Amino acid sequence: MRERGVIISRRRTPVQETIYRLDGPLRWAMGENDELVASAPVRLGQRVLDVGAGTGFLTLPLAEVVGGEGVVEAVDLNSELLSVLADKVERHGLTGRVRCHVGHADDLPFPEGTFDHVFCSYLLHELGDRAERALAEMARVLTPSGRVVLADYRRVEDQQLWAEIESWYAAQADGGGPDEVHLRFSLGDLERMMVRAGLRVLSLRSWKVFHMHAVGRR
Ligand SMILES: C[S@@+](CC[C@H](N)C(=O)[O-])C[C@H]1O[C@@H](n2cnc3c(N)ncnc32)[C@H](O)[C@@H]1O
Repeated sequence: MRERGVIISRRRTPVQETIYRLDGPLRWAMGENDELVASAPVRLGQRVLDVGAGTGFLTLPLAEVVGGEGVVEAVDLNSELLSVLADKVERHGLTGRVRCHVGHADDLPFPEGTFDHVFCSYLLHELGDRAERALAEMARVLTPSGRVVLADYRRVEDQQLWAEIESWYAAQADGGGPDEVHLRFSLGDLERMMVRAGLRVLSLRSWKVFHMHAVGRR
């Protein structure tokens, strides 16, 4: 059964489970996406990139802000998630402002200096050792005055809390298997990766209990 595009049946496939978690109403109600968009800040008419866009948690608010003269390029490996995103773009009357690309964060299909800003939420932990390479790609496609805005899970020092949160994710239908670590990087890890990728860190902070946000530039 579908309600406003969100699958609410109790039996979900792993991809449906991912869509449900990425698009859950509580997540949207927290306003993290609007906060991230404002931290660049994004302006009318700009060209922005959303790397690992999924079902559009950042793409949709970005498309609202850039307006009809701007464009949001959404890149993701998973074409099923991008088709959910494309449906939402149409339903929200944002057609023409968003272009979807099946592509890899390690090898972004854009020339150097293309984007006013680059956004990436909750992808880096999935990339593991390849996260730094993806950050270097984000730096490459950014204009010299642009910002890279990042959000991800944050490795917490409390081992018991860390284990509880990881086992909650592992128990989900789309938990990613026994090897997937969600709270992979600490604030210090993210800072080091950004610097090695050629980014200057403008801000880096914890968000809520086990999340973090960062803003950087070339
Ligand atoms: C946890 S989801 C986050 C999606 C979205 N940014 C959000 O915050 O809701 C991670 C996304 O990254 C995508 N992804 C994973 N590896 C990728 C890669 N190497 N290149 C591009 N996208 C990737 C996944 O398909 C998924 O949509």
